Amino acid sequence: MSSLLIRNGTVVTATDKYQADVYIEDEKVSMIGARLEVTADREIDAEGCFLFPGGIDAHTHMELPFMGTHASDTFESGTLAGLHGGTTTIIDFAIQTQGKSMQSAIEEWHRKADGHAVGDYAFHCAVTDFNDETRKEIPAVINEHGINSFKIFMAYKGALMIDDRQMYELMEELVDHGGIMTAHTENGDMVDSNIQKNLEAGNTEPRYHVLSRPAICEAEAAGRAIDLAHQTGCPFYIVHTTCEETLARVKQATLRNQKVHVETCIQYLLLDDSYYFKDGFEGAKVVMSPPLRKKKDQQALWAGIEQNLVHHVATDHCPFCMDQKAMGKDDFSKIPNGAPGIENRFELLYSEGVTKGRIGLNKFVEMSSTGAARIFGLFPRKGTIAVGSDADIIIFDPEVKHTISAETHHMNVDYNPYEGWVVQGKTRTTILRGTVAVDNGEALVGEGFGKYLKRPPFDSKV
Ligand code: URP
Ligand code: ZN
Ligand code: ZN
Repeated sequence: MSSLLIRNGTVVTATDKYQADVYIEDEKVSMIGARLEVTADREIDAEGCFLFPGGIDAHTHMELPFMGTHASDTFESGTLAGLHGGTTTIIDFAIQTQGKSMQSAIEEWHRKADGHAVGDYAFHCAVTDFNDETRKEIPAVINEHGINSFKIFMAYKGALMIDDRQMYELMEELVDHGGIMTAHTENGDMVDSNIQKNLEAGNTEPRYHVLSRPAICEAEAAGRAIDLAHQTGCPFYIVHTTCEETLARVKQATLRNQKVHVETCIQYLLLDDSYYFKDGFEGAKVVMSPPLRKKKDQQALWAGIEQNLVHHVATDHCPFCMDQKAMGKDDFSKIPNGAPGIENRFELLYSEGVTKGRIGLNKFVEMSSTGAARIFGLFPRKGTIAVGSDADIIIFDPEVKHTISAETHHMNVDYNPYEGWVVQGKTRTTILRGTVAVDNGEALVGEGFGKYLKRPPFDSKV
């Protein structure tokens, strides 16, 4: 048995903050206490540092085949970049190809991740074709593959989008088997109509991406999905929420005692739609769906975090290099949708959230880790620092400043949307299941270190 003792750190969970030593045996935390009288194979002094639970990013797309190309991070490069920044676990989307089974998508995602991911990982299953055959797969997806969360796309018609009937019937099925529905909420028909009109008018630059996808496209779809979830009783989670209008729909649902789980992403808290109006092709760097919104929406999202309407800050990490983005040089609708973020989310949320006084330390942990662990059935194995939990611990130095740059980041992408941002606070050491995975910028584990995490059926009481 190997042992590791972290001395003198300040343990922060979603509810507590206290000075303690943390003793780890093999992969688990086995003791927490003041001045523990134990010896260990290795001791780390964390004086002056916070000990946070390892970050969880519940929305990533490693190697996603999308819009005629592939997201540029592999499970190896993407999860390693996450470890550098403080994220120890991801939940990626195994996306069904229309006409094929969910099982084949899950097998494909295992081929990409197993033996390659450096950090821990789980999958959601994205259902793009729900019919009498694929309906039969649901129990096995949940009980055999350990995937309790399903995703539907209400946009990207012809590739990923399903219609309202499929969405409604899938929700009914999930209620019977213990699944939670997650949704990309944009009205795909409205979006496609706007894109066509813009292209016919000769509007081809990146800015027409946001102009084709106004907030109402998102809020209308969110409201519709929330209503269907209420009607069926299906647990429901909105991915990458961007705007005040969607949060208003969520708030309205609380009046009938419907709980809607809400994710936003770090970019929607920190960047705004002026990015699309920069010179040249710069705006392509943040062509993602839904698009960046207005400053008033950022304020609404921060308020939503404070008011417990938002439960997780993810990334929707889906990087494309600039030569891939150039596929849409003459037509904004061909720019691959997505942007990088996995390495920067944790530190940016601390820097912009905690040090700027927008959120407290416990809320930071809730948003970066615990919230996602609870919703998706990983808690208390992940998402906290407690006896019996996986020893996924971030030793975080709040005094260290650093500057984000594509020159120094570890993500496999040739730009960073936060280039030049100065960040207060840095992940000094990342411990994953009791092993020091990254220390002062040096990776100490490699390809295949990550483990696949099976999750139990959805439990609303966790
Ligand atoms: O633009 C995005 N978000 N790309 C990834 C796919 C998705 O919609 O989540
Ligand atoms: Zn999406
Ligand atoms: Zn996504």
